[in-house]
Amino acid sequence: MQEINQEKLFQEKIDRGEVIEPRDWLPEKYRKTLIRQISQHAHSEIVGMLPEGNWITRAPSLRRKVALLAKIQDEAGHGLYLYSATETLGITREELYQQLLTGKAKYSSIFNYPTLTWADIGAIGWLVDGAAIVNQVMLTRTSYGPYARAMVRICKEESFHQRQGYEILLSLCNGTEVQKQMAQDALNRWWWPSLMMFGPPDAESTHTEQSMKWKIKLKSNDELRQYFIDMTVEQARVLGITIPDPDLKWNEERGHYDFGEIDWDEFWQVVKGHGPCNKERMAARQGAWDEGAWVREAAVAYAEKQAAKNIAETV
Ligand code: 3HC
Repeated sequence: MQEINQEKLFQEKIDRGEVIEPRDWLPEKYRKTLIRQISQHAHSEIVGMLPEGNWITRAPSLRRKVALLAKIQDEAGHGLYLYSATETLGITREELYQQLLTGKAKYSSIFNYPTLTWADIGAIGWLVDGAAIVNQVMLTRTSYGPYARAMVRICKEESFHQRQGYEILLSLCNGTEVQKQMAQDALNRWWWPSLMMFGPPDAESTHTEQSMKWKIKLKSNDELRQYFIDMTVEQARVLGITIPDPDLKWNEERGHYDFGEIDWDEFWQVVKGHGPCNKERMAARQGAWDEGAWVREAAVAYAEKQAAKNIAETV
């Protein structure tokens, strides 16, 4: 009886818009879905460093290289904030890493696509970070305190990521015909996978209904996707490149852009591990884990030595 009351009191707290903190009572299912979503968000940040890292040594100027290095470093920090937020729910960093490395946990499908030209780095900043901002601004008001606070910090840095990507494409689009073609080719390859970042259609979403009841999500997958499309079409117009969707058309009645069918078979194939770069990304993460073992062991040995020294000094 007591458990039912606690769940009822918890939902009333959520309904009043109160923020849930780690020390508060919370339902096991709420805890579990937060661990699922926040850790997968963290995994996405860390895996997302790989496609961009591919271009650090090939950036066309020192200025572009420095901006790309700063962005990738930010993404590592975003992953660490989010792993820390997940740990407040009673799971260790090691367990989270193992969930990623064993394929038990997901990361965003978008990072399983290759970065074939420098224009892709622009498209990632403009579209991928642009889509992430749309989703993450909503998450700054999510009901779980540590997650919402991590989002506030992350969103500030994402704005720089989106801006630097858009500027890369603006330079290419104002450059030679070949450079403009590179930008158009990148938009052609990154547009639809960016729309998939918002998740499956609401009708097929496993978690949206419950996540919205718990105010983990304040907008649905389709709402955020539509908002992103409406905002991005105008930005493409300024660049002078064409969004690869012949069905994209302003619908005065709806007050939104109508858009074509998303290839959900492709989405689920990539989510299930059969995308262009899934194997490469996981091999890179496993390699980093294996090669970093000595760093983890040294850090633990040093911490244990320090702890022993502190105890010796206090007795
Ligand atoms: N890639 C991989 N898996 C996806 C996915 C995607 N793009 N979209 C949905 N899924 C998975 C879900 O994780 C869920 O699987 P699970 O039960 O095993 O976790 C399943 O598909 C059904 O999807 P739902 O819509 O029911 O799942 P959610 O309610 O969790 O919604 C989400 C999906 C909108 C991605 C939500 O989890 C979310 O908002 N996550 C936080 C934001 C995030 O993770 N963004 C990823 C990109 S981060 C990034 O881009 C970093 C930036 O710096 C570049």
